[in-house]
Amino acid sequence: MKDMITGNMVRLRDRRFADAVENYAWLNDPELAKLDALPVPTLTFQQYMSDYTAELLYSSATKQQFAIESLNGKQIGNCTYYGVDETKGDAELGIMIGNRDYWDKGYGTDAVTTLVNHIFRQTDIKRIHLKTLDWNIRAQKCFQKCGFTPCGHLEKDGHNFVVMELYRDQWEKAGRSGSKTEGEPEKKARKKTNG
Ligand SMILES: CC(C)(COP(=O)(O)OP(=O)(O)OC[C@H]1O[C@@H](n2cnc3c(N)ncnc32)[C@H](O)[C@@H]1OP(=O)(O)O)[C@@H](O)C(=O)NCCC(=O)NCCS
Repeated sequence: MKDMITGNMVRLRDRRFADAVENYAWLNDPELAKLDALPVPTLTFQQYMSDYTAELLYSSATKQQFAIESLNGKQIGNCTYYGVDETKGDAELGIMIGNRDYWDKGYGTDAVTTLVNHIFRQTDIKRIHLKTLDWNIRAQKCFQKCGFTPCGHLEKDGHNFVVMELYRDQWEKAGRSGSKTEGEPEKKARKKTNG
C-alpha cells in the first residue's frame, strides 16, 4: 500500500479493483491505443481481470503503478514508472489520461510533475526517461513543461518515437526538489518485493 501523493490538481494513489471497468474501456479505446502505439487488445474482460488482479496482489521491485484522480476523487488516468535499473539509476515513466474531458487542462503536467517529485524524493533513481510518438505534440509539450528534454529518437515496430529524459540534478537545479508534496514521507528505505 503506497501513500496517497497529492499534487496541485491530482492525487496519485494505488490502483483499485473498482478502477478495472474504466481501465478496460481505456485499453480498448482505438484512439488511446494509437496515441500509445499499441494495438487494440483482444482480451476478454475476464482475461483482463485475471492479469489486473495479479498486478494488484503482487508488487514488483521494478515497476510502480498509480491511478491518477482529480482532487474531487474521480479517476482520470494512470501513470507508472517501470524498468527500474538500480545499477544505472534509471527508470522509464508512462502516463495516460484516459478521460478526454481532462486533456489540455494541465492535469497531465501536474500528474507527471507529482510522479517525478515522488521518484526523486523516494528513490535513488538519477535519470527518468520516456518515449512518445514523434507526432504526439500534446504529450511532448506536457513533458517539456515538466522539465524533460529530447535526447534521441527510436524506431520500433514501424513507429517513430522521441525519447526524452530528466536527470535528478536538472530537477534539483530547477528548484523542483524544494517543497514536499502533501502525504509524502521523508525518503524511506525501499522494501525488497517479489517480481
Ligand atoms: C499526453 C497527456 C498525458 C498530456 O496531458 P494533458 O493534461 O492533456 O496535457 P497538459 O494540458 O498538461 O499539456 C498539454 C500542452 O500541449 C498543448 N497542446 C495540445 N495539443 C497541441 C498541439 N496539437 N500542438 C501544440 N500544442 C498542443 C496544450 O495546449 C498544453 O500546453 P499549454 O499548457 O502551454 O497550453 C494526455 O493528454 C494523455 O494521456 N493523452 C492520451 C494518451 C497519450 O497521448 N499517451 C501518450 C503518452 S506518451
